Amino acid sequence: MHKTSKKCVGLIVCIGVLLFLHHVWCPGSSSEVDIRPRQGGTIKELLDGKIRDITGSYNDITYHIKEDVACRLAQNTCVCLADKETFKLPFSNLLNPHVWANNFDVAFLESHPDPEGVKRHRAQEYSSFQSRSFSPADLLIVAEANSPLQYPTQGVEVRPLKTIIIPGLGLKEETKSSHTVSLTAKLGTFDVAATVDSVSVKGDGEMHMILSSPLLSALNRQLQFVTYRNTVFHPKTADTVEFATKGHQSFFTIKVGHGTIPRLYNSGYQREYNISALVTIATKTFLRYDKLKDLIDSIRQYYPTVTIVIADDNEHPQPVTGPHIEHYIMPFGKGWFAGRNLAVSQVTTKYVLWADDDFIFTANTKLEKMVDILEKTTLDLVGGAVREVTGYTTTYLHTISVEEGGEEGDCLHIRNGYHHVVKGFPNCVVADAVINFFMVRTDKVQQVGFNPRLARSAHLEFFIDALGSLHIGSCSDIIINHASKIHLPWGQTDDQKAYKKFRYSSSSANGNIINEIFYFKNRFKCMTSP
Ligand SMILES: *[C@@H]1O[C@H](CO)[C@@H](O)[C@H](O)[C@H]1NC(C)=O
Repeated sequence: MHKTSKKCVGLIVCIGVLLFLHHVWCPGSSSEVDIRPRQGGTIKELLDGKIRDITGSYNDITYHIKEDVACRLAQNTCVCLADKETFKLPFSNLLNPHVWANNFDVAFLESHPDPEGVKRHRAQEYSSFQSRSFSPADLLIVAEANSPLQYPTQGVEVRPLKTIIIPGLGLKEETKSSHTVSLTAKLGTFDVAATVDSVSVKGDGEMHMILSSPLLSALNRQLQFVTYRNTVFHPKTADTVEFATKGHQSFFTIKVGHGTIPRLYNSGYQREYNISALVTIATKTFLRYDKLKDLIDSIRQYYPTVTIVIADDNEHPQPVTGPHIEHYIMPFGKGWFAGRNLAVSQVTTKYVLWADDDFIFTANTKLEKMVDILEKTTLDLVGGAVREVTGYTTTYLHTISVEEGGEEGDCLHIRNGYHHVVKGFPNCVVADAVINFFMVRTDKVQQVGFNPRLARSAHLEFFIDALGSLHIGSCSDIIINHASKIHLPWGQTDDQKAYKKFRYSSSSANGNIINEIFYFKNRFKCMTSP
């Protein structure tokens, strides 16, 4: 071996040992970081103060309130009002249903042994929810007039503990003997990726950095190289940066966080929609094996290889077998939403179709149409129509809205109807809740989930949880049949009688769980609904 190459090897070994030691000594930063939820703090006070100053001006000039517009603004004092009882023509309820109001605070607290304790506990949980879900990116920031500062108002993002160049910083002012700007952050430090002659940089590598120069152009050149490095780890938050010069202050946010990791489904190349590769049919059964068998037989007529997932909480489960069938047996009586939850948790296709165990597929149950609208629009969930034995078809469309109600809780309003028709799909509309025959993106429905405490009749509760996270539609031309619902008592089998008894008994206990969920979990004080 040559002497030089020996030296080289020695050097490499040395560096290797140093890197190894470095790795052993510094597995990350050993400094402690306070990760208790924080809510604004000093920066919020500063911003609030500035907004007070801005809105406080022109106090001496009078104004006239426009009632019809002002009354539409949120007041933080919502109420739930039932429709007044008026004389009704027969069937008028079908056309224009009566709206009733329900006060959860009364209904739930009345039956509770310690109402004050529950109220306090709810307030505590809510306050901790607010601080956990707070993001500095939600703070109100107003850009002041005539500011010489140029900065990005949105769209700056950095991965946790990584470094970026802050784009768009600049100073536009009259030439003077010296030009100075400063930058201040809370969760990171500033530096410059390059230096520019005749610019002085103070505080580089710190949370507060000052740049100054006698030459405005040199300072602006230097501002193009300003970097921000996130130093406090958080998977998703934001830092509010203050950018200032003498007499002027501006604020902007840098989003800090990991990107969203996609969850893509590899459904294979397809020229036409391959339903078996794209969709799983999920259902929940209880005491209705005859109905379930009819459902499976009807599915197989049209979709012989689609996977069917069945959640079953019968006391004495019977085998349900066949190709492409997954039968999950649950503890007895776990209930409706627990079953839905279990069924959708096992789905591996891109979409899952929910159908009740007493539905029947027909030639009108075209799952391709549901896939098509989900593929071509931003909808996450699309409902169809259910045809009763009477021939009457329903889509069960609802809109849901929540009004702010201050300390007592918010108001939930449910109405029949929809928001608008979907362009390009004349039979489809956008709504907030649809019937219990729907197709949904699997990852989305898994995120929302079904509250397993809702054991008996429950449906709208899922759509209330989904409000604001699922984009929901409904198409009236995708139709499934409902096996006969109206039975004469002497025509019922023992199983049917037991099913009715189980489903409709203990409804007052179920009612109190619903009151509790609305009052405590969703923090509503009341609701109005048709
Ligand atoms: C459709 O998908 C299923 C399941 O992935 C697969 O077995 C079948 O071969 C596919 N059919 C076509 C026509 O691609």
